[in-house]
Amino acid sequence: MRLDKFICKSTALNRAEASECINAGKISVNDAVITDISFQVHESNHITLDGRKLIARPSRYIMLHKPMHTLSSNVDGDYPSLFNCIELERVEDLHIVGRLDADTTGLVLLTDDGRWSFDIIRPDKLCEKTYRVTLRDPITADNVAEVIASFVSGLQLQNEKALTQPAKLELVTSTEVLLTITEGKYHQVKRMFAAIGNRVNGLHREQIGALKLDVEVGLWRYLTADEVALLATPTPSQISA
Ligand code: URA
Repeated sequence: MRLDKFICKSTALNRAEASECINAGKISVNDAVITDISFQVHESNHITLDGRKLIARPSRYIMLHKPMHTLSSNVDGDYPSLFNCIELERVEDLHIVGRLDADTTGLVLLTDDGRWSFDIIRPDKLCEKTYRVTLRDPITADNVAEVIASFVSGLQLQNEKALTQPAKLELVTSTEVLLTITEGKYHQVKRMFAAIGNRVNGLHREQIGALKLDVEVGLWRYLTADEVALLATPTPSQISA
């Protein structure tokens, strides 16, 4: 990780104060003074501030049930930020792993471990996200096979060159479906249904990889070590093209 991030993770300093401290030549890595804030370090390195050894706090991994009309942003805007649900020290060190729209509810992961979140978000890692979708127009017995097949073979979204990756659609009722996708393009689910002439009236994320949402709306909990490890390991895909 970057040296300035390590300083934040091991002291009470914020990013700007950590940079100042590094620029002032107060930080040594393995006995050499380092003044480059983006210098890459590992937690096993011997890193000192004014000669005092620094030890990074452990990373945090959180599941939150995002309420309706909250923003996947660190600051409030037209709606309050979802960070208002989490009263924790240094909450600003956390970032959101895959944003949801203001009118989407459900499972949001937060962490300060950028490497972990990158693997969940990267489309080539094929981490599956399952959404419960309420539709304006019913999917009827006449067209269900065709609709499911179109999601498997890929849809052409507006302003995108490539088709969407294979997605799995399961009918709960004619206007409620479970959709599992491996990508996270802007408004992806809404645009997928727009591409077949339908409209999303309600959207809720239930699952990421093998992790199912299990806290009430507005509440959060830490992930267990097993859950953290599980998400870092690709699960065998349920989706077949
Ligand atoms: N797809 C959307 O359209 N919106 C979301 O919030 C998540 C996925």
